[in-house]
Amino acid sequence: MSRDLLRGLDPAWSAGEPARLIAQHPARAAELAALDPPLATLYERGAAVLAGARDAAELRERHVALLGRERGVVSLALAELPALTVEERRARGRALNLTKRWLTEIEEARRAQLERDAESKDALDVTLPGRKPWVGRPHVLAQIRDELLDLFHGLGYSVYLSPEVELDEYNFGKLNFPPDHPARDAHDTYFVNQQVVLRTHTSPGWVRAMEERKPPLRLVFPGRVYRAEQVDASHMDQFHQMDGLCVDRDVSMADLKATLNTFARSILGREVTTRLIPIYFPFVEPGCQLDVACAICGGGGRVRGGEGEARCPVCKGAGWSELLGAGMVHPNVFRAVGYDPEEVTGFAFGMGLERIAMARYGIPEIRLFLENDLRFLGQF
Ligand code: PHE
Repeated sequence: MSRDLLRGLDPAWSAGEPARLIAQHPARAAELAALDPPLATLYERGAAVLAGARDAAELRERHVALLGRERGVVSLALAELPALTVEERRARGRALNLTKRWLTEIEEARRAQLERDAESKDALDVTLPGRKPWVGRPHVLAQIRDELLDLFHGLGYSVYLSPEVELDEYNFGKLNFPPDHPARDAHDTYFVNQQVVLRTHTSPGWVRAMEERKPPLRLVFPGRVYRAEQVDASHMDQFHQMDGLCVDRDVSMADLKATLNTFARSILGREVTTRLIPIYFPFVEPGCQLDVACAICGGGGRVRGGEGEARCPVCKGAGWSELLGAGMVHPNVFRAVGYDPEEVTGFAFGMGLERIAMARYGIPEIRLFLENDLRFLGQF
């Protein structure tokens, strides 16, 4: 053979291992070596550079050089056949056809392999650890509110919402606060005008509900309330309450106590230490207050700080913190809404949601609830 068949192939081209693509490759190379040694050399080199193409573009380039119809080395060798003797022509013609077929097979196999590789590079690797999306959540007070709504729902209570901007008459008058009574001072009211206030508690909801509906009633009244308080670690001028009201025939203080115990154990845990003490509210008689041992000082009233021992800043040394007020609905409240106190009795309670969260999680500072600092809120 006069021409150097390998001339069209760049010696710098990367080589691969054709036997990994086509298992019969070594046998084929041996068959060609017996038939036509120069062509066997071309086949070996051609097979190696096709198998070693690193991407589709390299494969194309090597295809053109080897098998291209115009300038490919195989086509050029075919074009030389007429110059050969009859015997030479027969042997070479057969060897060239085999070379062409087998190189084409290797090229196809390499192309398929490159495509598979490209796909698996983009593919989803399900064994990698996932990227966790940031998920928001309800505010800790909303979580407590919802938990309480769930609890009271289970006890047969429905939700009643009443306005934050309330008539003085509903916030105080119909709840049996006499005009100019000092109990009003304890509420440090924000007045909108003479008749209108920002509600200082969620109890006015009872009045609205009872004026609208006939007994029996079992309702809870969640919402935000306002008081012109001196702000400190345990007082804010806005906070959240949830009142409850149960009115029926023969409702007693024992029912109230059982309800409060169910509440305290469910929300603060079975081990919680509470006490129920008598206290005055104009709208209940008798009235009582449920206290929980202070979560910060554990009931001792003192805490250890940087400068030694000090009075507990949250309970102010009392050792207890007030969780809720409660009592039997005052007959005057029933009269104000047109219920007959000889016919029905009822109990009511009102709790502060911030206080509950502070007692449950040991939060020392009520202002944290309103600051919207995610380092705080993210913990719940
Ligand atoms: N409304 C009272 C307060 O805000 C709490 C309370 C509710 C007391 C129901 C007794 C009965 O202080």
